Amino acid sequence: MHVLVIGAGGREHALCWGVARSPLATRLSCAPGNGGISQLAECVDIAVDDFDGIVAYCRAEAVDFVIVGPEGPLVAGLVDRLDAEKILAFGPSARAAILEGSKVFTKNLCKRHNIPTAAFEKFSDLAKAQDYIQERGGPIVVKADGLAAGKGAIVCETTEEALAAAEDILGGQFGDAGNEIVVEQFMVGEEASFFALCDGGNALPLATAQDHKAVFDGDRGPNTGGMGAYSPAPVMTDEMCQKTMERIILPTMRAMEQDGRPFKGVLFAGLMITERGPQLIEYNVRFGDPECQVLLARWQSDPLAALVAAAKGQLAGYEVDWSERAAITVVMAAQGYPGDYAKGSEINGIAEAEAIARVSVLHAGTQLEDGRMLSNGGRVLGVTAQGRDIRTARERAYQGIEAIDWPEGFCRSDIGWRAVEREEQAERDANESSVKNSDSVAMPMIFGDLK
Ligand code: AMP
Ligand code: GLY
Repeated sequence: MHVLVIGAGGREHALCWGVARSPLATRLSCAPGNGGISQLAECVDIAVDDFDGIVAYCRAEAVDFVIVGPEGPLVAGLVDRLDAEKILAFGPSARAAILEGSKVFTKNLCKRHNIPTAAFEKFSDLAKAQDYIQERGGPIVVKADGLAAGKGAIVCETTEEALAAAEDILGGQFGDAGNEIVVEQFMVGEEASFFALCDGGNALPLATAQDHKAVFDGDRGPNTGGMGAYSPAPVMTDEMCQKTMERIILPTMRAMEQDGRPFKGVLFAGLMITERGPQLIEYNVRFGDPECQVLLARWQSDPLAALVAAAKGQLAGYEVDWSERAAITVVMAAQGYPGDYAKGSEINGIAEAEAIARVSVLHAGTQLEDGRMLSNGGRVLGVTAQGRDIRTARERAYQGIEAIDWPEGFCRSDIGWRAVEREEQAERDANESSVKNSDSVAMPMIFGDLK
């Protein structure tokens, strides 16, 4: 099977990595790809929004299956176009991708079907939005309706910040994506990323993950696309996963089907785990980046076979096997990201990092030029490692980071901190209880010894 992956980031490198190990794949291409992807796939210089170019390539090179990575071409209808051309593709139609394309659509769907999410109102009129914000007060969240490259949600501590955010967004900060805004209640809890593979009628939960959106250690500073991720997410217990499926994912699938928008592809629920259980923050209609990297690290059965089954509507009874090992990805970004940054600096030491057991370097924004690997984006590398627990995986990932020689880059030093704290606490608890147990069993033995 000739597989074409669409996209150029760390998520697409992870997808190519998964496809490349499938016995079903006889040829792998990626449009446009990046420096790392070019080492395992044929990169073709076609932009993700050049639908004519993509279709022409599929025809000329007998592509059997297309995996669409980013949301932009999904929302713009690439899968519809490929369907019309009778080319099998993984991803939702534009009518289904609206779950990510319009927050107003999703919030209304949640309201109609009692899917737990933050209370909200939508506005296109600034004065009305401001009245509502004044009435509610901060903290409160203001969001652009449409796609805004992950920057369209502003969490406002104060009423004043929220008033300004509403003015900026409705005033055109994100162009047409901000013609409408959603103003919603601020939720308190721990975030998690939940992924379900969907075939229109069935939804198969995948492994759980958690990402770190803020740029600096301690989850501080402005939000980015994601500075690191890990899987599994300890907050997503079996009970929480079941509640997420029952209360959020399955009602959404049913609603979309009833609405004539059956969802195929991967449904990514951004969740807030609150005292009342999982609440939907937002939907994405694609794999998360960098969550995809940790999922693919743990995906043991054939990932390509699963994506093909989803695209063909054959997920009923399907199972995916996951490695028991934990996985973590630490993102290395260009200094200045998520603000202005320079491109084109040389990166060395990737082979040395990959020589460490269970470490892989997935490229997010690189370019291979005359044998030199150059930075070519904000997020540049995702050093991905596995271990028996998050702590071990994390040690390996940071050993990988040490091996990489790229002075123009930076990373967070605390990826996975919540999970590591939990693991350390569990270890202390276990030690304490074994001390207690050994005390109680030791006593008779001491008396016995004295005899
Ligand atoms: P979104 O683009 O909707 O995923 O929002 C980006 C980030 O903003 C989320 O990952 C959360 O950290 C935060 N956020 C969004 N909505 C809320 C909310 N209602 N309450 C608290 N935090 C939120
Ligand atoms: N890491 C979050 C996202 O891909 O949207």
